[in-house]
Amino acid sequence: MHAAIENAQRYPDGGAHYLRNALAQRLNMALENIIIGNGSNEIIELLGHAFLKPGDAILTSEHAFVAYKIVARIFGAQIIETPSRNYGYDLDAMLDAITDRTELIFVANPNNPTGTLLSADAIERFVARVPTHLIIVFDEAYYEFVDDPPDTLRYIREERNVVTLRTFSKIHGLASLRIGYGVARPELIAVLQKTRQPFNVNAVAQAGALAALNDEQHQVATKRMIDEGRAFFERDLAAMRLEYIPSAGNFILVNVGDGAAVFKAMLEHKIIVRAMRGYHLPQWVRISIGTMPQNQRCIAALRQIL
Ligand SMILES: Cc1ncc(COP(=O)(O)O)c(C=O)c1O
Repeated sequence: MHAAIENAQRYPDGGAHYLRNALAQRLNMALENIIIGNGSNEIIELLGHAFLKPGDAILTSEHAFVAYKIVARIFGAQIIETPSRNYGYDLDAMLDAITDRTELIFVANPNNPTGTLLSADAIERFVARVPTHLIIVFDEAYYEFVDDPPDTLRYIREERNVVTLRTFSKIHGLASLRIGYGVARPELIAVLQKTRQPFNVNAVAQAGALAALNDEQHQVATKRMIDEGRAFFERDLAAMRLEYIPSAGNFILVNVGDGAAVFKAMLEHKIIVRAMRGYHLPQWVRISIGTMPQNQRCIAALRQIL
């Protein structure tokens, strides 16, 4: 990244050649299967540019990651959210909600903010029953935190209309650089490529991502830290008799009674948790798992407030 910034007078590699190549090798895909975005969030928006027009519908679940709703709004599409099952996706309900207006189906796995995880079997049954002309987007921002994650890339190898999104913001710890990627069959990636700006991802981010991809040690250490932090929160929240949703991600959703009030009170302690009113979960806050001293500070503040 230091070397890249020394050359900041030059435009970045618009095709992100080295990074796509490295990802292709790692994922056992071709370079043409991969698009790099200014965060995986940008690719969610590119999907809207490419495939949505007013009157179309996006299908997802209640309590799904909010970006899908925002993209629907930008492009005048309708958002259909099926009721959740135990705070996670009810894939049967989603299948029943498919109409001839449905263009894109978004499944975040694990989901943000609930941390719920769908099994490989559930995904398999779902993909088998979705009409093949529809695009299913598996948003896997937290994939690397899962012990035995479902393999959605295989549907791409089978030429299904599946887009898998991943990011350097979470396990790799590069959120501020804004870099993520999408994987899909080459024809689909080619359409998405037409909708992005020519230099959408800066050179420092590309260099950082390339280095991060090879930094196995950092990924292992981060996963271990999150696993330990999650166990810590689960133990202490249970001791405080607070309801939480078992999470497969690097955050945990906690029922504190009044999420907005706890958000404000935690700010006084210089701790930011996320209030969940926008997700129709006004009693809950989402807490990001951090280092153990941060986790302890967070729990201590929560105890004091409650
Ligand atoms: C499910 C999910 N998808 C995508 C993103 C976007 O991540 P980024 O744009 O940083 O890659 C997030 C970020 O919180 C997320 O939770």
